[in-house]
Amino acid sequence: MLRNVQIIDHPLVHHKLSFLRDRSLPIVEFRAIVRELSVLLAYEATKELSLKEKRITLPDGTICVAKKLEDDTLCFMPILRAGNALLAGMLDFVPTASVGHIVVQRHHSTLEAQEYYFKAPDKLEKKLCIVLDPMLATGHSAIAAIHRIKKAGVKELIFACLVAAPEGVKALSEAHPDVRIITCSIDEGLDQKSYIVPGLGDAGDRFYGT
Ligand code: URA
Repeated sequence: MLRNVQIIDHPLVHHKLSFLRDRSLPIVEFRAIVRELSVLLAYEATKELSLKEKRITLPDGTICVAKKLEDDTLCFMPILRAGNALLAGMLDFVPTASVGHIVVQRHHSTLEAQEYYFKAPDKLEKKLCIVLDPMLATGHSAIAAIHRIKKAGVKELIFACLVAAPEGVKALSEAHPDVRIITCSIDEGLDQKSYIVPGLGDAGDRFYGT
């Protein structure tokens, strides 16, 4: 396994993923489990956030020194549309984080990933940016999105997804070796239509009911 890749290998993650893999799971449950797994991804992705000390006065007048997050250190960046599915769980875990958005789509003839929209918070260069997409399939859109986010000055990036294909992990690691990848699973591979096998199907369609 590549050093920049982390799989959350936990019995409850396997258990929850097993429900998501069932294509007949009702949308309400699909959304609920995606949210739960997003919280766990957020927990793993934020493990190294820096802290500052804060003095707190206790009821008896004594002072204790507690640790809290530095201000403005985190930005979630969903790759739309499907990446937005991970946002609610991420914000459940870190409600103070800022949020940017990026849309990349494949050009219909060249099949190259192209940026269509990019909106990011100020001082992006000072933040850890956690890029969100439930599926890392070929890696094309993740690579293009991260390229654009780096151009905006971001130095520290993590890519978080629910399910990855080995092909996508390899492509993303080669294109951006400095970016940590956190995923709940690395599946078998891609089918002829570049869907992940066994995967979750089209995660965006399942999450949005389209
Ligand atoms: N996008 C999806 O939603 N599912 C896949 O399997 C691959 C890309």
